[in-house]
Amino acid sequence: MDAESLRQSLAKNGQEHLLQFWDKLSDAEKSSLQKQISSIEVESVLSSFHDVMKDVDHAQKKIDDKLKPVSTDVFGSFVKSSQDKLKSFEEKGLTQIGQNKVGVLLLAGGQGTRLGVNYPKGMVNVSLPSEKTLFQLQAERILKVQQLAKKLTGQKCVIPWYIMTSEHTKGPTEEFFKKHNYFGLDKNDLTIFEQSRLPCIRFDGKIILEAPSKIAMAPDGNGGLYRALRNHQILEDMSTRGIEYVHVYCVDNILVKMADPIFIGFCIDKGARCGAKSVVKESPTESVGVVCKVDGIYQVVEYSEISLQTAQLRDSDGNLVFNAGNICNHFFTLDFLKEVSSIAQEKNLKYHIAKKKIPFVTEDGQTSKPETPNGIKMEKFVFDVFQFCSDRDFAVWEVLREEEFSPLKNSDKESKDTPTTCRQAIFKLHQRYVEKAGGKFINSDGKTDLVVCEISPLVSYAGEGLNDLVANKTFVPPVDIEMGANGVLIKDGAQ
Ligand code: UTP
Repeated sequence: MDAESLRQSLAKNGQEHLLQFWDKLSDAEKSSLQKQISSIEVESVLSSFHDVMKDVDHAQKKIDDKLKPVSTDVFGSFVKSSQDKLKSFEEKGLTQIGQNKVGVLLLAGGQGTRLGVNYPKGMVNVSLPSEKTLFQLQAERILKVQQLAKKLTGQKCVIPWYIMTSEHTKGPTEEFFKKHNYFGLDKNDLTIFEQSRLPCIRFDGKIILEAPSKIAMAPDGNGGLYRALRNHQILEDMSTRGIEYVHVYCVDNILVKMADPIFIGFCIDKGARCGAKSVVKESPTESVGVVCKVDGIYQVVEYSEISLQTAQLRDSDGNLVFNAGNICNHFFTLDFLKEVSSIAQEKNLKYHIAKKKIPFVTEDGQTSKPETPNGIKMEKFVFDVFQFCSDRDFAVWEVLREEEFSPLKNSDKESKDTPTTCRQAIFKLHQRYVEKAGGKFINSDGKTDLVVCEISPLVSYAGEGLNDLVANKTFVPPVDIEMGANGVLIKDGAQ
């Protein structure tokens, strides 16, 4: 398309400003800008923009009277389940894993702006004694669950790992895994794919130019998963491998239990096609989305969408009525993923908007960073597919926050969800694992309750298998339980 035709086609949608520097661009820059423009479905993006902006006004209205908690039929709780029940869920999950029917899918396309590192979050090392990164911890958990499944079923098995990245995170993620030899996994069982991007848009509907030949683009949210699965034929790959169940999770939860057999077993037991893990809200005002029903339809409702009064409602046992805090940790059957990723269904997932400070080009061609939000990013959310479920095929599994959820969102300048809180969450959980297995700690400085203790996922996935190693022993922190070439190595401060 020549420049004039391009200008006319953009002008039809009020976007001719994208060519404002055209005459000053080199041929390479012109061709790059043209490519960017043709990758955007301008009409459809603007139509979504107008829809989403209309909904912003409606979203201000609280939706309290439409809200119902998750039905008891679909709900299960780790704490309230008997040991026998948990064991049977676990065996069910491990059996499916042993039969190569389970895959894991990581959402790792976020830009991690709050944390402020300029590389993918999975590559962050929160200064555990082992210096392991989030990616390494996750890879080792996969290896361990494979072993546990093999132990139960007697069959060697594989949990293929699918990693959704974005323009920003794909290259560095690929290099990182290669550099670390895939942390012991077979590289053929790891698939890294890229989600789509959407242009950032000013509040007045103009697409933002970031530099003279660069349009401001952002990943289309973690719900961009469904389109990306379609675009990259990921579900076909899963089908070919015989995968029937998929565990989807976020990169930043340091405690995430990859392919958690108990969760998988629970969801299968319930006959669910889609499941969510939840944690009890810390307080009525905790700003976490809650899994519930709105007008009878399953959704995640943000704290800002309901009144304080509704958030504070308690049942006869004193528990919050809207208590199922969503932790972005999901179970899907492959059939369900195929359905929701089809163009017809995926189209029905509405965009959400995030008002952001988006760098833009000034009249003189410089990029400027605004002090206040100047536009929006449009995103879909992974949990928006809950709307396609009913009580017949949905399941919610409540887990203990201290065992399963500690996200890395912020830098250590903040007090919540930081490298420090993640590190401490591991220490506290691993201390409990050791104590439960009959080990004790002598606190070396006696001043703090925090015991530095790290157990490699290659030694134990969720506290199992530690009795023979630690029962009736006393350790001086820091304690590091690692898998060496010839078996388990335990180092502590006494050595
Ligand atoms: P967050 O919403 O916490 O975003 O993502 P983020 O990008 O990690 O951090 P901020 O908001 O920029 O500070 C939750 C999960 O969803 C993934 C993230 O990688 C994380 O695992 N995600 C987010 C995607 O995969 N794609 C996206 O477009 C956005």
